[in-house]
Amino acid sequence: MKKMLLLLPALVWLWSCGGAGKAHPPSTLTITSLNNQSLDARFTAGFTQKTGIAMQVIPTLESATDRLEQYRELLKEQSSTPDVLVLDVIWPGMLADDLVDLKPYLGNEMGVYFPELVKDGTVEGRLVAVPFVRDVGLLYYRSDLLREYGFSRPPRSWRELERMAARIQVGERRKGHANFWGYVWQGAPYEGLTCDALEWQASAGGGRIIENDGIVSVDNPRAAAAIQEAAHWVGTISPPGVVQFEEYDAWNVFRAGRAAFMRGWEWYYHASQAPGSLLRGKVGVTRIPGGGVLGGSMLGVSRFSRHKKEAIQLVRFLTGQKMERQRLLRREVLPTLPVLYREPAVQPGDSGLAALEHAVSYQVIARPSSIAGAKYGQVSRAYFLAVHSVLTHRQTAVRALAALQPKLTQIVGQTAK
Ligand code: GLC
Repeated sequence: MKKMLLLLPALVWLWSCGGAGKAHPPSTLTITSLNNQSLDARFTAGFTQKTGIAMQVIPTLESATDRLEQYRELLKEQSSTPDVLVLDVIWPGMLADDLVDLKPYLGNEMGVYFPELVKDGTVEGRLVAVPFVRDVGLLYYRSDLLREYGFSRPPRSWRELERMAARIQVGERRKGHANFWGYVWQGAPYEGLTCDALEWQASAGGGRIIENDGIVSVDNPRAAAAIQEAAHWVGTISPPGVVQFEEYDAWNVFRAGRAAFMRGWEWYYHASQAPGSLLRGKVGVTRIPGGGVLGGSMLGVSRFSRHKKEAIQLVRFLTGQKMERQRLLRREVLPTLPVLYREPAVQPGDSGLAALEHAVSYQVIARPSSIAGAKYGQVSRAYFLAVHSVLTHRQTAVRALAALQPKLTQIVGQTAK
């Protein structure tokens, strides 16, 4: 015993200065939040259990646009925390210079992920972000109300959606639900509006703002008509306040049973089926007419991290097949590995996975983040501000898009090929 006590300080010293050539383990590894406390807690606890490395989650802001600013500030200050960043799929091109190239460590493992996500994480040949969660825009509806109002299936076009939403809204208000609305979505001036509006215009054949060859295509009559149409929804089938709705605002109205339809992301489905949810068994999910925008999260390691080795270990742990499978089976978030969608445990017939089937069998629309690269933030901001000015009736869509076109051309002029 005495011998042990004498040995102890030596062991501690060896450990603290790296022992047998090993790197000094961090006292705490930091990661930004997924904005979902139970997922954050589970992810980090699992890693600590496996490695003994303590984890701390850094809170982030709700809006993707605000979160990007927060990250930019941290990286500008060369902050050594967070070590690992949860990144929106559209950010790698903007933050690439401050992210570690993971290719030498994880490059060989990328063949198993959705290629479009790996492409999003690769900037000028460097793998700066690894696919973590796949997400796609979906249309949610109250299946009980559709039945009650005599609709045998969800809408396939915006016109149908408008008609159904209006009819259900009138009927529910007659029943005394004064605050009931037909359709809720994300209309605040932030990244979420870029997603919604891109879906409107893409479904109308109005292009993708900037096409893959770098041509700015936003000023076209189809895009203008689609955005103008959405402006008519404000105050008719959608609450006037929708022009300030972010993700949780729309979700809160829908989950309180106050809307017939909602545009949302995949994770809302699992939330709607959670124990205690008002909506259990009453929600259907289908494709957005014309397809949904591709969303999701990637993981990157900060160039300023002092624990890069462990940070890479965490990225590998969180994005590995075992963890992705666990999250899928727990109905938490969608995996980024196509093979998991073919798992026997997640085959159709499981109503909880209706959303999932749609997400894979489905036309996804990519935002022009790869083509705009580091300029995507400016492109998206100019676009959502222009769309917002139409939704709030400050100008017509035709005028807004005509003014936006040269602005976007100027922004991407330097980078577009
Ligand atoms: C979701 C998507 C993300 C998108 C954001 C917009 O978080 O996963 O890609 O940018 O919503 O609000």
